[in-house]
Amino acid sequence: MSGLRVIFFGPPGAGKGTQAKLLEREFGACQVSTGEILRKAARAETSLGKQTSGYLSRGDLVPDDVMVKLVAERLKKPDCKAGFILDGFPRTIAQADDLERMLKKDGLPLEHALGLNAPNDVLIKRLSGRRTCRNCGSMFHAVFNPPTKDGVCDRCGGELYQRDDDREEQIAARLRVYEEQTAPLKDYYRKRRLLREINGVGSVDEVRQRVFRAIGDGAK
Ligand code: AP5
Repeated sequence: MSGLRVIFFGPPGAGKGTQAKLLEREFGACQVSTGEILRKAARAETSLGKQTSGYLSRGDLVPDDVMVKLVAERLKKPDCKAGFILDGFPRTIAQADDLERMLKKDGLPLEHALGLNAPNDVLIKRLSGRRTCRNCGSMFHAVFNPPTKDGVCDRCGGELYQRDDDREEQIAARLRVYEEQTAPLKDYYRKRRLLREINGVGSVDEVRQRVFRAIGDGAK
């Protein structure tokens, strides 16, 4: 595992998935979205899906041991040899400790912890209009980034759907969970000099430019 090694963290709707996919395209590193892996497992009704779907629909975090095992296995796959972009992991201090141990063992430590942020009113607008492709996971927005044809993915022609946890009550729960369990990662990574705080407000391209500057690739 060499190449780019970064994590994205931030509240729901901050743009982690959107920006992680852009980095993946640029660097060829594997993008690992733990939320997407869990949603696929739930749809396919695998044992992982059955075990975790309740947490997702409530907006709670899946237990740390389940998540750490899932990410450890994913990072061993060949497409992660050219580096990784973790989108949504770690989300607790315990997960961050385990990731640190895992990477230390391989002698390839994390390069940047990219903390995206935006105020709650922006997050809520983004989440309530989000549409995701069932097939390739591409993201659209009913207002900010609508697909050419309603309900159809521009990239692969797949069906666009609205996530169950993008309902008002679940959004509020996810924002609370973020503040309580994930926001402490800011201090954790600040102490390790890995924190790059990025303003997530603005167009996708404006935020993309900030992300590239934060990882020291400002020319892109
Ligand atoms: P996950 O899928 O990771 O959800 P999340 O963290 O709540 O983040 P989102 O996917 O909602 O938002 P995002 O920041 O990626 O924003 P996006 O780019 O999509 O996790 C789901 C669940 O899985 C969790 O609640 C938990 O249960 C479980 N889970 C996952 N990982 C876990 C872990 N490590 N431990 C335990 N449990 C875990 O953008 C949102 C919308 O805004 C889109 O429509 C997009 O098009 C639009 N948009 C993006 N950027 C902009 C912009 N600059 N301007 C205008 N619109 C924009």
